[in-house]
Amino acid sequence: MIESSKHDESLVSFNDVQGDVLSIPHLIDLDDVSLEDLMIIFRTTKAMKEVMRSGAEKRAILTGDCVATLFYESSTRTRASFELAAKRLGAHVINVSSLGSSVDKGESLSDTASTLESMGADVIVIRHSHSGAPYLLAKKLQRTSIINAGDGQHAHPTQALLDIYTMREKLGQLKSKKVVIVGDVIHSRVTRSNILGLAKMGAQVVLCGPPTLLPSYIAPQFGKSVFANVELTTNVDEAVVDADVVMALRLQTERQKINGVTSIREYTKLWQVNAERMSKANHNAIVMHPGPMNGSVEISKEVACSEASSIDDQVGNGVAIRMALLYLMRKNRE
Ligand code: CP
Repeated sequence: MIESSKHDESLVSFNDVQGDVLSIPHLIDLDDVSLEDLMIIFRTTKAMKEVMRSGAEKRAILTGDCVATLFYESSTRTRASFELAAKRLGAHVINVSSLGSSVDKGESLSDTASTLESMGADVIVIRHSHSGAPYLLAKKLQRTSIINAGDGQHAHPTQALLDIYTMREKLGQLKSKKVVIVGDVIHSRVTRSNILGLAKMGAQVVLCGPPTLLPSYIAPQFGKSVFANVELTTNVDEAVVDADVVMALRLQTERQKINGVTSIREYTKLWQVNAERMSKANHNAIVMHPGPMNGSVEISKEVACSEASSIDDQVGNGVAIRMALLYLMRKNRE
């Protein structure tokens, strides 16, 4: 299947997507998601935006469902948007975090998830510092859909989905578009999921940052065809030339076992996404950041607040993407 213009029509109603069903029971990462499934998710997201705009039918779609968020790491956007998405569609929501739950008393991840399933959780949205935690739950649980809200340095598929949805909304089809991702690439699960999704869209990806923060998994000797669309560079001034999208990444100091940068001042000088660098990108290029931002470090305030900035759109689309996923996961369980 190719990225079809059918999916770019400006209006999609909820009725239009009721026949669409995903081929996957869980969302672990985008390597599991076919292009056809991606298009279903994006089309349903568009319909959910219409549902939000009209407001009329939104409460009934997930009536009787229970969505549990299970977060072992901090979050503002992902957790709040899943909760809002679930409530907007009429589901019950249980929020469990490692702090203040029986995880504090030593209860295992597996037992915690089984407890939520026994209570009737239809979906568990999990964020965990260990890569593979969502996969473990998908294998173990019988009735509950698992959505990965970020696992270690592995994947953050819902962030990539909202990023790619936002890019398509702003730029149209992404085939041959140049997406430059700048900063702490090695610790970025967002980047990894974006690479997988953008490869399916036919976009070109350039990863840029200090040599200490670029990943070895992308090295040509690994020979993974899915990464054939990815280049690495340490020179941001060259990378941004003719870019359609420039995405700045947060310096994840909490994950850095060794200091990946000599100093914040040097990092800012050499790799910050600023107005001068953005002037080398395409005239209609957009700027993105998955958040949270280290203000004035990886991105200048001027650029973050500029007309090119799509950061607020990313956050808004995050709610619609998660509404679409909760709805599609429910259809998969029927
Ligand atoms: N982008 C993202 O995952 O943000 P939160 O950590 O606030 O959820």
